[in-house]
Amino acid sequence: MTHAVSIGPLHESPIGTTLERHLLDRQRQMPEATGDFTGLFQQIMLAAKIIGSRVSKAGLSGILGRTGTTNVQGEQVMKLDDFANRTIVQTVEAGGHVCIMGSEEVEEPIKIPSQYPQGKYVLQFDPLDGSGNIDINASIGTIFSIHRRVTPEGQQGTLEDLLQKGRDIVAAGYVIYGSSNMLVYSTGDQVDGFTYDPGVGEFFLSHPKIRIPERGGIYSINEGNYHNWSEGTQKWVDWIKAPSENKQAYRLRYIGAMVADLHRTLLRGGIFVYPPDVKNKRGKLRLLYEASPMAFLVEAAGGAASDGKNAILDIVPTELHQRTPVFIGSPVDVADALRFAQH
Ligand code: AHG
Ligand code: MN
Ligand code: MN
Repeated sequence: MTHAVSIGPLHESPIGTTLERHLLDRQRQMPEATGDFTGLFQQIMLAAKIIGSRVSKAGLSGILGRTGTTNVQGEQVMKLDDFANRTIVQTVEAGGHVCIMGSEEVEEPIKIPSQYPQGKYVLQFDPLDGSGNIDINASIGTIFSIHRRVTPEGQQGTLEDLLQKGRDIVAAGYVIYGSSNMLVYSTGDQVDGFTYDPGVGEFFLSHPKIRIPERGGIYSINEGNYHNWSEGTQKWVDWIKAPSENKQAYRLRYIGAMVADLHRTLLRGGIFVYPPDVKNKRGKLRLLYEASPMAFLVEAAGGAASDGKNAILDIVPTELHQRTPVFIGSPVDVADALRFAQH
């Protein structure tokens, strides 16, 4: 006689939830969904896997040929920023889900060639964020946001489709290429994180329903710019790193890649700031494909994101590559910073 071992009901997964499964489950909760969004997301996921695979080999560039020069076969090796940009464009353009794209690496809006169907979504992205970190093997990332088009369906999209407020984002996310690779995304109601298993080639749900702590203990800013800041920003940094009656001295962490600094901020709490300074009067970071998607994610996790005066998500964009100051993170920490920044 054999003794069957109980493994629980058949629908209880022994493998965890893949990103694909997560997207399909959520699509079924929305009866009006056509599958277009899931289709677009699957293409972004493929691009993330391809970029992640290339990033993990970046350290071999000295052996295989430096990026920007020729490799041992005599072929041109593309710079990783450019590689990541082309990867996203090529995985998405033929899918029929988007009508226009905007990228940090491309001056003009990226049109969808007329041989492909013009979709109902708009994709904006920073293909490789923190690319100065590539050569030192530190974390880098990809940031993206998705809007619904505002111009008539069926035609090519225009700049008008790209110049939309963060408040109207349908979904945003980032991929971090770090000690492990992760994809974190939100459609506005919750934020979920998936860790990549390279053996299987899939992202698995590892951080469901991320909530940012109300306040943290870390501040993140390029303090080398101290002498170029306003007095308000200087006073805030002097205050935050000093112990006082109602708080400990905050610790400083600054990786120099917004994705990595904000990933930590989302999980641990605290604040990430890139303020205006004498060299960057409107701040350094780009509104549409850096600040807005990150603000969308952080707000969905219970945090706050401001340009120093207004919520980043409420800024009405006027230019594709416009910059904005950012104060993002735990709601109490952002409120504290704004009290100083506004003076
Ligand atoms: P990118 O590599 O896409 O140009 O972005 C770099 C950005 C951002 O990731 C980071 O937070 C910031 O630049 C760092 O700037 P500083 O070196 O001026 O601190
Ligand atoms: Mn960037
Ligand atoms: Mn970049």
